[in-house]
Amino acid sequence: MRFRDKVAIVTGAAGGIGLATAKRLGSEGARVIIADLKGDAAEKSAASVREAGAPDALGVACDVSSEAQVAATVKAAMDRFGRLDVVVNNAGLMTFKSLEDLTPEDWQKVLNVDLFGAVHFTKQAFLTMKPGGAIVNVASIHAVMTEPLVAPYAAAKAAVVSLTRSASIEGKPKGIRVNVVLPGAIDTPMLWDNPNVKSGAEKVDPSMVGKPEDIAADIAFLASDDAALVTGTALRVDGGRLARL
Ligand SMILES: NC(=O)c1ccc[n+]([C@@H]2O[C@H](COP(=O)([O-])OP(=O)(O)OC[C@H]3O[C@@H](n4cnc5c(N)ncnc54)[C@H](O)[C@@H]3O)[C@@H](O)[C@H]2O)c1
Repeated sequence: MRFRDKVAIVTGAAGGIGLATAKRLGSEGARVIIADLKGDAAEKSAASVREAGAPDALGVACDVSSEAQVAATVKAAMDRFGRLDVVVNNAGLMTFKSLEDLTPEDWQKVLNVDLFGAVHFTKQAFLTMKPGGAIVNVASIHAVMTEPLVAPYAAAKAAVVSLTRSASIEGKPKGIRVNVVLPGAIDTPMLWDNPNVKSGAEKVDPSMVGKPEDIAADIAFLASDDAALVTGTALRVDGGRLARL
């Protein structure tokens, strides 16, 4: 019960990796706020997180790209539970266009969610959390290696790794740890809806495809006091994909 009496916000937790993470933290004692663009789905997920053993769970409609909505979500957590210990910045989306077809709006849409969502929650967490708090960002192996048609996503995820470094340094005197996981191919709709995967342009070795629960376990470790000395770390969770030529 590593999260007994603790309160965690998980963004993009209506499904996929976020929901698995919310269930994992909840099953280890956390009260969990599920913050997702899809408010109805967030409330349904909150019910399933309670069923998975969380002492309490709250679904909140939140567009992470809006600083005001992020601040309101943190306030909702404080009003309901009176404390904030863990933030998992998991919400994300992708676009699939060549560099010459991408518009400034396309770039902005991806950066607003995949980068600025984490930026806004880092700011609010720093303003709210007490020493002992932890932030875990969810980037991607695309932060390190990438493929055609996903430039905004790769750039945003690389920036999240950099944000993690900066936030770990500024978080240190506050007693707040900040780390990032880089998932490889994970069995969620985001993977199988990827046109590069569908077309075979991106080859996915089945032995390297993980489950959302695999990522949730590593996020839970980084969020827990087991990782008390771990901050500023980027943890690849990719079944060895980045290690080979
Ligand atoms: N599935 C993979 O193979 C894989 C690999 C590497 C990294 N990731 C990363 O893991 C994270 C979760 O991905 P997933 O596979 O579970 O995908 P998913 O599409 O199942 O989940 C993403 C969630 O984010 C939410 N979301 C989107 N925009 C939002 C916004 N503006 N505000 C709040 N919520 C918003 C969606 O509603 C959805 O519930 C993402 O950051 C993704 O980039 C996934």
